[in-house]
Parts: sequence; structure tokens; C-alpha cells
Amino acid sequence: MKKFAPAKVNLALNVNGVNDRGYHDLDMIMVPLSLCDEIDIELNNAQEDDVEFIDLCVPDENTVTKALRLLREKCKITHHYTIKVVKNIPEQAGLAGGSADAAAVLSAINELEGLDLSKSELIELGQQVGADVPFCLINESARVQGIGEKITRIDTDWCFDFLLVKPNKGVSTPLAFKKWDEGDRRQWNVDAIEQAMIVKDHDQLMNSMVNALEEAAIELVPEIADIECLALKLGADRAMMTGSGSAVMIFSKSGSVLQRIEKEMKKKYPFVQIVQAG
Ligand code: C5P
Repeated sequence: MKKFAPAKVNLALNVNGVNDRGYHDLDMIMVPLSLCDEIDIELNNAQEDDVEFIDLCVPDENTVTKALRLLREKCKITHHYTIKVVKNIPEQAGLAGGSADAAAVLSAINELEGLDLSKSELIELGQQVGADVPFCLINESARVQGIGEKITRIDTDWCFDFLLVKPNKGVSTPLAFKKWDEGDRRQWNVDAIEQAMIVKDHDQLMNSMVNALEEAAIELVPEIADIECLALKLGADRAMMTGSGSAVMIFSKSGSVLQRIEKEMKKKYPFVQIVQAG
């Protein structure tokens, strides 16, 4: 069975505070992307699972093996699977690449084994793998709160293109949150961004998007700010980091402006791609 595992971006990310387990209470607007990992999942006759990431070195314990193990334990699965992952989503980018893979594996095995687990049962398992897995299982534009488990769909069919650029260095999510803890912990309201999605208002979206982790991530990877400055100099309407970084979203109403910026960014950065959100 072949599954596509779409990335996400945050058009808004506010941190309300920290809970007693050290996890952060978030208020986010998330949208799925056309950018996907590709996952092939087949039954095998061996006595163990075989998980392979093509052309990539990934630790033995990763989001795919963790999702598989949790599902195996919960549902007493005895078959084993060969899973091959083609990674198109860059890592440590704020695009939920690892969570997307876990979500795709959970829903594939649910189908292949005929487990009939509901979305909420899958979400309960998924959140043990990673904070973004619940959103990846829903995979529709949504307001996402709590540590990522409270998901409210946004009533919109808005799709738009933008440019995604990731610098060489990624950002470690725990480190970005630690830097936020040490900063001024400023609060942001994300209602206007949700509204902009509903009425499909580009200008309102550009003016209201916010990412509370951006300052912290720029301290860790200053190239994020360089990309944003260059994008604005080249005529972008807005440039903002997604999630805990380090990928930057670059917006323009004009397709030709986006293509011009894409051409310039390709001279400097390893991942540069026009993608569709929504
Ligand atoms: O669950 P995930 O692997 O995406 O999170 C990585 C790390 O980011 C967590 O171990 C935690 O340190 C931090 N995090 C957090 N609050 C969240 C999500 C993640 O502090 N809501």
C-alpha cells in the first residue's frame, strides 16, 4: 500500500504557557501542504519489521518504528511489515515531517489489518509519538490547541501557493522552546488569522500571521532572519518561519515575484520549493 504523508505549516503559533510536564500549551493555525513524503507499506514473511529510509540516515528508534510498536502493542498485531520511506520533507524544519510519516503508518496499518480504529483512537496513539501527529491524522486546515491534541477544523477551502526555503541548519524543537522559556514570553491572539482563512483575505493574513517561537529560533539559527530579509528585499509581501523552524514561508500575491525569489534563493539555500497550502 502506498501512502502520501503531507507536511504542515503554521500560519500562527502562540505559546500560552508551560504545563507541569514541561510541555507548552499552544494556540496554532495549521494547514496541510502539497509537499509529501512517500511511504510504501507491505506485509512481509519475516519475524520482524523492516523500516528503511531511502538515501537517509535515520536513528533505529524513529517516529515510524514508534508508531508501529504502539499500534502492535495496543492491537496485538502479529504480522510484520516492510516499510520504505522516501523523504521529501526536510528535517528539523517545522514542517512535521516525522509526525506525517507516523500518521501515514498508523492509518495504513489500521486499514491493512482491518483494525477499524476510529480517528480519535488513532489520535490518542499518535500523540504518544509526537505532538503534531494528531493534526497529520486529520490533515485539514485547523486551529490546534493544547500540546497539539485539540483540533478544530477551520471552515475554508482556500488554497494558495507560497515559497518554502530551509537553510542548512535545522532547529531542535526542545531547544527552541527552552529559548522561548528564557525570553519575554509575549502573548499573541490568533483569532484574526483564523478569520483571514475563512474569508480568504490575503492582506489580512499577511498582516496578522505570528510565530511566537521565531525570535528564539533565530537566536539558534541566524540564517532564518537572513532568508526573511532577502525575501522582503526581493519584493515578498511577508516572510515568516513555520513551527519551531528553521524553514521560512515566503508569500506574494504575484506568481512571478515568487518565481523570481525562488531563483535567487536557489543560489544560496539547500531546500527551495514553491508549495501549495490548503
Ligand atoms: O512531540 P514532539 O516530538 O513534536 O516534540 C518535541 C519536543 O518539543 C518535546 O519533547 C518538548 O520538549 C517540546 N514541545 C513542547 N510543547 C509542545 C510540543 C513540543 O514543549 N506543545
